[in-house]
Amino acid sequence: MENSRNPGFFAVAVGVALSVLFALLGITTVLPGRVGFGLAGVCLLVSALIYITYTRGNPVSKTGFGTLLFIMALGLIMPILFVNQQQVQADQTSAQYDLTLRRGAAIFAQYCATCHGFQGQGIDGPKLNNNADVNTLSDDDLTRIISGGIPGDPTNPGKLAMPAWLNTFGGSLTEEDIGYLVSFIRSSDPSYLATKGLPNVNGFSYVLGSLSNPTQIAQYHEQEKGGSKPPANQFTDDTGKKQVNLQIMNMVGGAQPWGFSPQNVIISMGTTVTWTNVSNAPHTVVTRPGTTPPQTFQSDSLNQGSGTFSFTFTKAGDYPYYCSIHPGMLAWAEVK
Ligand code: HEC
Repeated sequence: MENSRNPGFFAVAVGVALSVLFALLGITTVLPGRVGFGLAGVCLLVSALIYITYTRGNPVSKTGFGTLLFIMALGLIMPILFVNQQQVQADQTSAQYDLTLRRGAAIFAQYCATCHGFQGQGIDGPKLNNNADVNTLSDDDLTRIISGGIPGDPTNPGKLAMPAWLNTFGGSLTEEDIGYLVSFIRSSDPSYLATKGLPNVNGFSYVLGSLSNPTQIAQYHEQEKGGSKPPANQFTDDTGKKQVNLQIMNMVGGAQPWGFSPQNVIISMGTTVTWTNVSNAPHTVVTRPGTTPPQTFQSDSLNQGSGTFSFTFTKAGDYPYYCSIHPGMLAWAEVK
């Protein structure tokens, strides 16, 4: 520190200025953060070494201070490298998890969506997208159910079974595929993700992106809208009646165990519809989510064998509705 024109001071000034510049570039992500801070550190170290060279007179002092600086720099770099390594590993794990969800979505769209719906909303098979009952199953149970299927109920022939999917049980999927499906279905349960510390991404959001077949993409959007309106010849004309009675019943030979009879009706404004549940399971009557009918209705769970619900339609328009317990039970009311 003999005089202020010592080149050592100059080196320190330039070094600090450069390191601030690199740190700023790192912070503003002009340079990748790691590179910016690394260069800032190198500038500081080099300028400090030059400073020591010019300010320490004897070589022993120069070497001593130089060595001390290197040891300090090493002491700093080690923990930084360690944290960086952990970050790299975490990035890899999360990229791998993301890939798992995308694979699960693609398999689900091809093998499961016909019965469970592209969004896992449930059609002939139950809802799988964040279904409270499914969420209570362990990973092992879920794997077992998908691998081995669910046998039909001999006392209730109308009830659909779920096929076994594992190749060793005659299915078309490998153990690995089923692993992807389990992670995929699990990802729809936010509390599962929170418990496992997984990113909050519902794999069902990847289903549309996995589709390349135009027919499937069209079906996907149909399902999103809650299904399209059935053709006119599938409607029963009940116009002019003040009161219309519909039954919720066990269907014989139909695609589903239960349905509405008649399924689709045309009625007049002011008509009251009464649904009676004569089937062997509880059901609800609810306007479909994703649609905006002129009015909405939502019954409580109607007891099997006798439960009833009535609604008076006072506005003209289309009313797609369904059973929220069995989302495959779709029906339509058109009010004129
Ligand atoms: C042919 C129609 C059909 C297909 C295709 C299908 N399932 Fe199912 N699935 C069902 C039916 C029906 C049930 C309900 C069976 C029961 O409870 O008796 C069911 C039940 C389930 C359950 C249990 C749900 C619960 O509430 O416990 C899971 C999990 C499941 N399916 C997953 C899948 C997966 C994954 C695929 C694709 C690999 C798939 N399903 C394909 C019809 C199907």
